[in-house]
Amino acid sequence: EKVILAYSGGLDTSIIIPWLQENYDYEVIAVAADVGQGEELEPLNEKAIRTGASKIYIEDLREEFVTDFIYPTMKAGAVYEGKYLLGTSIARPLIAKRLVEIAEKEGAVAICHGCTGKGNDQVRFELTIKALAPHLKIIAPWRIWDIKSREEEIEYAQARGIDVPVTKKRPYSMDRNLWHLSHEGADLEDPWNAPKDELYMICTPPEKAPDTPTYVEIEFEKGVPVKIDGKALSPLEIMDKLNALGAANGIGIDDIVENRLVGMKSRGVYETPGGTILYAAHKELEYLTLDRATQHYKETMAVRYAELVYDGCWYTPLREAMAAFVDSTQETVTGTVRLKLYKGNCVPAGCKSPYSLYSEEFATFGEDEVYNQKDSEGFINLFGLPLKVRALMMENLKGN
Ligand code: ARG
Ligand code: SIN
Repeated sequence: EKVILAYSGGLDTSIIIPWLQENYDYEVIAVAADVGQGEELEPLNEKAIRTGASKIYIEDLREEFVTDFIYPTMKAGAVYEGKYLLGTSIARPLIAKRLVEIAEKEGAVAICHGCTGKGNDQVRFELTIKALAPHLKIIAPWRIWDIKSREEEIEYAQARGIDVPVTKKRPYSMDRNLWHLSHEGADLEDPWNAPKDELYMICTPPEKAPDTPTYVEIEFEKGVPVKIDGKALSPLEIMDKLNALGAANGIGIDDIVENRLVGMKSRGVYETPGGTILYAAHKELEYLTLDRATQHYKETMAVRYAELVYDGCWYTPLREAMAAFVDSTQETVTGTVRLKLYKGNCVPAGCKSPYSLYSEEFATFGEDEVYNQKDSEGFINLFGLPLKVRALMMENLKGN
């Protein structure tokens, strides 16, 4: 029988290969997903086989990641607990979906992942598997085996002739893709500790960013970016370009003590340079193009949408219905936004749209022909009527 293993080539997922063979007698098929973590995945071909896998798939999921996971989340304006742009949360359902597809193709009976039993990622992988392939067995070694520390992992690996990476590992638990890089653990576990400058692997610390601002113009069609500085680019090129601009200008660093779904609070530092620019630009365009009621309703929904994504509920009827609502609101979110990038800040510097609902004619403080100020008197009388009725009642009570 076959098992599909979510494989990264690191120590954790390497020792899982012999562990699955020894404990379940499975044939192990490794799957490495490229979601833009910026590592060469080619060497994993040989490494996985050498470690005992019978086969490895290396899957380039980057484009799909941008168009089907990043863009919908960005269009929804989903931000978890006011700060986190969900970089890890949106990659998990995509990776899990591909694991399921390969499991089906290979006729595998189980999927195995290397998430710990204390985090959110296990939930995201497993909810996706349950939603897409309810018959598949799920194996999470960290919830089963007795290995407790990195030292024990190394011992386990060496006893089986698996090479242990010699490069000194950074002390942080990290997850990188083309949207973000997360850092957790080590000195960050104390919220009183500020992140050290050396922590950042993508973003220039804002105070070291250039002293002159950079301007960027992003053109959107129905809520999705299509051009930068007048040039049509592919989704991957757009992310590359925005990441480079954001990183150079110290944009997109967030530091949060967040509520994990599994109960505890945890401290994370995130680098999301391009994503932060994209969210800011998209929001500017919505200020110009959405009507008040839709804009406000969408704002409240964004909070719930972010929770669903964080909680691994990507493939759920509610998340999908919300995405349909969001897409409907984006019909007129077309236009161009100019931003000024400067030392960690992303400042609006111009916005235009053929669907703009902003009317200088109506808004002007100067003289105008179209807005009759007399209309306001009746409007305020009726809008304020409940207040007036209540105040009269209170007066009456006092009188008696
Ligand atoms: N706390 C973030 C989240 O739950 C980041 C998780 C990072 N995952 C990892 N395996 N290092 O989305
Ligand atoms: C893990 O525990 O595997 C990573 C952190 C998380 O999933 O939240």
